[in-house]
Formats: sequence, C-alpha cells, structure tokens
Amino acid sequence: MTPKKAAQAREAKTVFFCAECGNESPKWFGRCPHCDAWNSAREGPGRREAAPARRQGYAASADQASAPLKLDEIDSSADARWVSGIGELDRVLGGGLVPGSLVLIGGDPGIGKSTLALQLAAALGRAGRSVLYVSGEESPRQVKLRAERLALRGGLDRLWMQSEIDLERIFEEVERLRPSLLVIDSIQTLYLGSLDGAPGSVSQVRECGLRLLRLAKERSLPVLLIGHVTKDGSVAGPRTLEHMVDAVLYLEGERHHEYRILGAAKNRFGSTHEIGVFTMQGDGLAEVENPSERLLQDRGDSVPGSAVVAAIEGSRPLLVEVQALVAPTHFANPQRVAQGIDARRLAVVIAVLEKRAGLSLAGADVFVNVAGGIRLEEPAADLGLALALASSFRDRPLRPDLVAIGEVGLGGELRPVPQLERRLAEARRLGFRAAVVPKRSLPEGATGALGAASLHEAIGRVLDPDHAR
Ligand code: TYD
Ligand code: MG
Repeated sequence: MTPKKAAQAREAKTVFFCAECGNESPKWFGRCPHCDAWNSAREGPGRREAAPARRQGYAASADQASAPLKLDEIDSSADARWVSGIGELDRVLGGGLVPGSLVLIGGDPGIGKSTLALQLAAALGRAGRSVLYVSGEESPRQVKLRAERLALRGGLDRLWMQSEIDLERIFEEVERLRPSLLVIDSIQTLYLGSLDGAPGSVSQVRECGLRLLRLAKERSLPVLLIGHVTKDGSVAGPRTLEHMVDAVLYLEGERHHEYRILGAAKNRFGSTHEIGVFTMQGDGLAEVENPSERLLQDRGDSVPGSAVVAAIEGSRPLLVEVQALVAPTHFANPQRVAQGIDARRLAVVIAVLEKRAGLSLAGADVFVNVAGGIRLEEPAADLGLALALASSFRDRPLRPDLVAIGEVGLGGELRPVPQLERRLAEARRLGFRAAVVPKRSLPEGATGALGAASLHEAIGRVLDPDHAR
C-alpha cells in the first residue's frame, strides 16, 4: 500500500450513517439528507474500511475473479436451479433456488416465515442436500417441535440445527459442515463481535449481510435470510440490505385468515410478478395450486356489492371476488376504506362513477375488500370494482356467474386490458357463463361475453333487471 493510500484508509475509518435508512455520510448530521429522519446519525466503520477485508476474501480466487472474461466463456451451468418441489415457492423464486444466491424473506411476526424456511430445508434434505438452519430466536427444541408439527415426509436427517447469534461461530460451522443451504432465522438476531452495536442495529445488520453475501458468492452457497418487517412494511434494518441481496420475498396475509401470499419485491433471477398462494394448516403451509377455485369457494351467492374480476398474477390468471359496501354516512367526511385495492385507485373509480355514471356517492361511506387477502394492482380490476360499488349502491346483485374485466378511464370509457383471452378462458373453466369486457377487445364470436364502451353502459347492462335475472 502506498503511503497515500494508507492515509486515505485511515481517514475513512469511521463514518456516520443513518440508523433509519443506512445512508452514509463522512460528517455528522442532525437530519438525514436521504430520508429526513432526525437524530438518526450513528458512528460506525465505513464501507471503505470494509473494502480491504473484502479484497482479502476474494484473494484466493482473485485471478479469475478480476480478469475480464468473454461472456460466452463464462460457465453459467452453476446457476442451474434447485427445485424444491414446493411449487408455489419455486415459482416465486423464478423456477427454483439459485446456488450462491442470497434471498431475504420478510413478513410480519407469526405469518409463517420460519415454517416456510423449515419446509424448504426439509424439501432440500429429501433431495439429498444438507442444510444448516441457524436460529437466533428459538432453541433447537422449539424448532424440533415445529418440525414435528409439519408434515415433512423425511429429509430431517440432513438438517443441522444451530441456535446461535454470533456470525463468526456460524461461519465456523459452515466451514465444518459444508451445508448446501444456510438458513438464518433471523438477520436481526446476528452480531459480529468486532462491531459496536446490538444485534439488529443498522451497522450489525449491514455488516452481517455483507459477510453473508460474500460467503454465498464465494462458496456458491445459497443463503436464506429471514427478516423482520417494520411498521411501514419494509424489512427492518438498512435499505442497503435490500440492495445487496439477490431477491426479496414477502410473505403476507391476514393473520386470522388462512391464506398466505408469497410475492417478490425484487428478484435478480426471475419475475417479480409471480405470487405463490399457501394456506396455513395445522401441519404447516400447504400449497394452493388452484387459487381461483379456492378463493371463490367462500363466496355467498347473489349478494349486492360482490363482483368477480379476472386478474393476471405473474404467469397465471386469478379470479378474485371484490366486495363493496356503500352505506349512508354519518360523518361530514365520508369514509373510504379499501383493503386489497390501492386507495387512490378507489378514489378515481368513485369519482368516475359520480361524474360519468351518475351515481351519487358523495354522501356515502364506501368500504371495499378483496377476498382472501389478495392485493389487486392491475387496472384490469377497475371495472369489477366499479360494478361492485354500483351493485351495492343500487342494492341489486350482479348475476353470480358474471366476470368483469376492464380498465376504467377518466372519461368513463372502458379500456382494453392485456391477455383478455386467458382471463376469459380461466373464467369459463370455473363455470362463469357471462363476462363484461371493453367493447373494443370483445373477441369475435365470443359467447356470453358482453362488450361495453363505457362504464355507464356496462352498469346499465349488467344491473338491468332483465340481465340480472
Ligand atoms: P412461524 O413460522 O413461527 O412465523 P414467523 O417465523 O413468521 O414468525 O409461524 C407462526 C404461526 O403459524 C403460529 O402462530 C402458529 C402457526 N402455525 C400453524 O398454524 N401451523 C403450523 O404447522 C405451524 C408450524 C405454525
Ligand atoms: Mg420465526
């Protein structure tokens, strides 16, 4: 190291970083310039200090790691995926677990993260791979008790369980056992003795994350990190954690609801549109291979305010019930409460109903719920939402075998949506005999499908007594 470089390294020894978002600054700050949090500055080792260690870490393979390679000379076969056999999980991962990937699973406490991780570990165990499951939250006995509850069908003989929070000790065990998968439950419980700060602090989470990232890449060892979620729904700890991992998965659902939806907020090895649907059973998470069927099962027949939409989640169509309740308000500001639908989208649809379809909702409370804890993000759900609202407003049910597909424009026009054919096919498969779709995209010779040019027209036709039967 030249004297100049050494001086630089000394200077960069400690930095200030924000305890909220992980933003680094060479100077102390009262308010974080990045996330505007007050009094969040903490002193800690800077990223530049970590750099020499990283160089050391790669030293063994420095030659091949640093020399440029032609793209067609790079061996990508190591990226072949490990299919766990838990289809809903494999799909969200992008077709299986990629060796050497660092995957973060976030979710509220009690949602089933540890259960899912244990089921994945056992599935890989059954496929002949060994897994080291590190829990900083539970004793080996607690994990064993959970495992006994799950219908695991073997694989436990290859599962190593360690109750540990010291990352150095975990690394020693990885060295000794050489597992095929490392599970860390959870990243917030880990600590490195060489750093200040309690487990879960930003500096600890960040450094532990970096060390695990290096481990994953150097050994082609997939590492599954479980992370807690903060009030606003992001994984607790520095934002940098989400940037450094290859994939961020979220397990969501209503705690008192049986459905658990696994989605990806980021995935370097696959689409972020795929979702996996599970139900929490007495013996663990069970895959729901036919989610539409399941989601529509609990539907009461012919209630005003209920409409079925055909959404596309990733690679497959999903039929979901949207429920609306429009009731006279007792407040000066009527309530608009939406679950599973973006509140702004709801506001737009209500405004269009008022202005373009003559429904006077200004004096009404509006509640909207998407069944099964599903989140509908597609504009294609607009028409179903609007019809559910209109149906409740008029207190007249839609026909039960009607599916609504279409985006509602600000002018009240119905706009075409992608993949209409696939949505209609799924609806037909599930016994829906009528559909209302944007007129322009009405397939030729489609039986039972009704094309409407505007929301006004759609409401007139499907809430008309002749049509509703
Ligand atoms: P857990 O995986 O511990 O959640 P997390 O790691 O996300 O905090 O699961 C917690 C809940 O799931 C707990 O309330 C009990 C319930 N559960 C079942 O219903 N069935 C099961 O087979 C298991 C293992 C847990
Ligand atoms: Mg847990």
